[in-house]
Amino acid sequence: MDTCVVIKNAVLEAHVLLYGATLKKLIYKGVNVVLGYETEAEYRKNGGYLGATVGRYANRIADGKFTLGGREYDVGCNETGRGHLHGGTVGIDKRIFTPISVTPDSLTLGIRLKDGEEGYPGNMDVTVTYSLVGSSLSIEYNAVSDADTVFNPTNHSYFNLSGGGTILDHTLKIDADEFVPVDSRLIPLGHTESVYNTPFDFRTPKPIGRDINAAHEQLEVCGGYDHTFVMNGETSLYSPVTGITMTCRSDMPGLQVYSGNFLHDAWSGFENNCGIALETGFYPDSPNRPDFPSPVLKANEKFSSVTTYSFI
Ligand code: GLA
Repeated sequence: MDTCVVIKNAVLEAHVLLYGATLKKLIYKGVNVVLGYETEAEYRKNGGYLGATVGRYANRIADGKFTLGGREYDVGCNETGRGHLHGGTVGIDKRIFTPISVTPDSLTLGIRLKDGEEGYPGNMDVTVTYSLVGSSLSIEYNAVSDADTVFNPTNHSYFNLSGGGTILDHTLKIDADEFVPVDSRLIPLGHTESVYNTPFDFRTPKPIGRDINAAHEQLEVCGGYDHTFVMNGETSLYSPVTGITMTCRSDMPGLQVYSGNFLHDAWSGFENNCGIALETGFYPDSPNRPDFPSPVLKANEKFSSVTTYSFI
């Protein structure tokens, strides 16, 4: 049986599955602005991480290995030919969360993770809180581990503010001067790069499709945008079809912008570019990159982070 909790206020309605603490539907002005399926069975069967809470480490870790406190950890290479992706074979996107508190407009889900699961150190208690305040949905992550570990949760909703069709006509504005270039495995080259005079410049709003096929090796490597931006401030997405604008704000340093370039190949049941994921978090492969903001969570210290999506 599907276990789904619906929260709502006067303007927003969110449907959240216990499976993966997954945002299944988000309805604003009668439009479902996220990609999703009708049944939990489809989430279990299909790829693409639609709406899921992703962790322990969202995004990629080179060769599935990192060193922490002088010890090497092997979290496995679950992405064929590339490395570790989105927390491993059975990341938290594929686990059942427990409801901890439910009100008409908020929901807290929790999960207990065991030391060594998917290769990560530390027994962890993780909670994800979805709350609706006015025309905003905020997702708050709290966690504590009993050993030093790495932690980088995100939400993997694919937004489509038109309620259908592609997102290539959506206008995107990203307050970022730099992005993180990657190699053919989508692992960072190691530095950040200026967006100036590149297709990665979204400081002034532009349609996602305008430069997506431009001759730029960083676009060619992954068939479009699948990159982390170094965030200065907020990100806005606008649909010319419905006139809906969504603004994303977060206390995390990075934003992985994935334009759904291989949604079809991921057996998601959706065509490529039908949704755009805006995944807040640390940069890819940060556990191996001392120059990047650190995703290390010290034993018994509290992790807390909030990402808010506001609609108008
Ligand atoms: C993330 C990655 C993409 C892709 C999707 C899932 O957003 O950055 O490359 O793996 O997840 O299909």
